[in-house]
Formats: sequence, structure tokens, C-alpha cells
Amino acid sequence: ALERTFSIIKPDATKRNLTGKIIAKFEEAGLRIVASKRIHMSREQAEGFYAVHKERPFFGELVDFMISEPVVVQVLEGENAIAKNREVMGATNPAEAAEGTIRKEFALSIGENSVHGSDAPETAAEEIKYFFSDAELVG
Ligand code: CMP
Repeated sequence: ALERTFSIIKPDATKRNLTGKIIAKFEEAGLRIVASKRIHMSREQAEGFYAVHKERPFFGELVDFMISEPVVVQVLEGENAIAKNREVMGATNPAEAAEGTIRKEFALSIGENSVHGSDAPETAAEEIKYFFSDAELVG
């Protein structure tokens, strides 16, 4: 089915000028960028976005990292976009990521792993709404 998913190009990637190379990976996989903006997240925004991880030991580190530099938030559209994006990203831990994936090529560590992508249709819808209005989605 035609789906939309939410993506973040994370601080470790924007800092190393990898935005274009990462977007090329999405587009080569057939994902279309229907919304995109560069933002510097506030602490409140990052804490809200990652609220499901609040009790995890790495939560503080995760929020500090996500607000350390600008990020690029995007909505990607395509056939099975959620699974396809997860495939293009590779495993969360770059040490476990498959050849040719974004995280294999660019990620530095499990925390500084270059990209975020929604894991299911419900979270995709919530995450898109967290950063974009309907008018900003241009298919
Ligand atoms: P993301 O998809 O953005 O969602 C939660 C993030 O937590 C995940 O990517 C990782 O970057 C991060 N994360 C997961 N495990 C750890 C860890 N052990 N230490 C630091 N960050 C982590």
C-alpha cells in the first residue's frame, strides 16, 4: 500500500554534511520526499518526541544529542514506505547494519546513528503530526 513515514536526519549526519547523501539513498529506494524542513529541536520538543523512551537509561544522552545540532525532519512517501525506509536505514546499531544501508555507511554508534524512521503505521502518523501540519505535506 502507498504509505507515508517520518524520518529524521540526525545531528551527527547534518554536522558532517551528509544530508544530500542520505536523501539520495531514500530517493534511490523509490521514496518520495513530500515534506522537509531543517530545524534545531528544543529540549521540550525532543523530550516529547522520545517520550516512550523516558525510562530508558540512555534517555538523557539521547535528548542531549538530538538538540546538539540541527536536524532535518521529513515525510517520505512510497509503496510500503515504513518497511522500505527501515530497510534503507539498516539496523539501529551500525555494527549490525547490512552493507549499503545508511547506518552501515554513515552511522558512528548506536546513539549517533544518523537517521530515525517510524517503526509502524500508528507511530508514523503520530510522528508526522508532531512536526508537520497537513498543509506542509505536498504529495
Ligand atoms: P531512534 O530510532 O531515533 O529511536 C530511539 C533512539 O535511541 C534510537 O534511534 C537510538 O539512536 C537511541 N538508542 C538506542 N539504544 C541506545 C543506547 N544504548 N545508547 C544511546 N542511544 C541509544
